Amino acid sequence: MILGNACIATPETLIDRGAVVTKGETILWSGSEATLPQTYYNHERTDLGGRLLTPGLIDCHTHIVHGGHRAAEFEMRLHGATYTEIAQSGGGILSTLTATRASSFEDLITAALPRVDALIAEGVTTLEIKSGYGLDISTELNMLRAARAIAQRRAITVRTTFLGAHAIPPDHKGRPDDYLTDLCLPALEQAHSEGLVDAVDGFCENIAFTPAQIARVFDKAQTLGLPVKLHAEQLSHMGGTALACRYKALSADHLEYATEADAALMAASGTVAVILPGAFYTLCETQLPPIAAFRANGVPMALSTDCNPGSSPLTSLLVTMNMGCTLFRLTPTEALDAVTTNAARALGLTDRGRIAPDHRADLCVWNAETPAELCYRIGFNPLYKRIYGGTL
Ligand code: NIG
Ligand code: FE
Repeated sequence: MILGNACIATPETLIDRGAVVTKGETILWSGSEATLPQTYYNHERTDLGGRLLTPGLIDCHTHIVHGGHRAAEFEMRLHGATYTEIAQSGGGILSTLTATRASSFEDLITAALPRVDALIAEGVTTLEIKSGYGLDISTELNMLRAARAIAQRRAITVRTTFLGAHAIPPDHKGRPDDYLTDLCLPALEQAHSEGLVDAVDGFCENIAFTPAQIARVFDKAQTLGLPVKLHAEQLSHMGGTALACRYKALSADHLEYATEADAALMAASGTVAVILPGAFYTLCETQLPPIAAFRANGVPMALSTDCNPGSSPLTSLLVTMNMGCTLFRLTPTEALDAVTTNAARALGLTDRGRIAPDHRADLCVWNAETPAELCYRIGFNPLYKRIYGGTL
């Protein structure tokens, strides 16, 4: 198939009157249509009418599989309670834990699908989903199985991340190391043995785990040959980023309290900065992630919804791009790279996220002419066509 008369967004530039040739699930060729090689002349051609063509969008950090909701905590925060106070009084992640443990495999899928569909409607073709609301072996596995099943029910790639080190469950209150020994590490081993884990994550924070505790989880991941990533420096500077970089983490995520020194370490270890403006916005955070330091050090930046019931009940990657620009001052080109090329890298995927030969034919056609047009509207969806693995 030839997608002709497109305005192709590449990380470097826009190609006017561009064309992309796909075969099956793969891109064979892309470039200016005037230079289309003769061998492709007989392929069926669709005229895109000059529309913007981008890679399919990638949401690289979500907790989209979960039970229940936390609207009541939203109201509590409006009355002055903080996220940390709510977490310390047994709400927050632990309230979602109760609802998630009470959910069956089908319940989890049924609850997640409308949220997944909202992302798909805006052109998301690859989605990362974390566990972390079970904090016991059976529920962590149930979450990961539900996440995997979503890829069977929709035309989307799902990457699963084990997040057993998300919070300390009530049964192990005050004994985080025992929780890791008794439940978290065995759950990781079992989930991995069932092929349910693509990467391992943790929450390094004063309301969660210390760097030394996260190191135990990362050591196990390393033994199993799994890549790591980390929720780091979201509410305070705990040193999680430096730890993650020692383990060559795919990404460090949130990063409001990260420093210039952290940015330099990330550049050296090739760790992507996943910034999450939905959580920044929801928690009325004022500390900005060190964007200038990421730029200066050449740290690739990704943007993601962080879709979760507490700190970021957000199911729009387009709104996330808008927030990335408005709140964090990303340029529209940076925002587009952040949900395509760099998001793929944050997941360790080298076969997608750009329009180039041998990459997956996951593509979006927009009723728009420039990346800025995708970023500046709020709550409007200009998607014209979504192509997943070469199929409309
Ligand atoms: O990415 N920071 C930790 N985890 C999630 C929030 C989880 C929750 O509040 O349910 C996050 O913000
Ligand atoms: Fe998160």
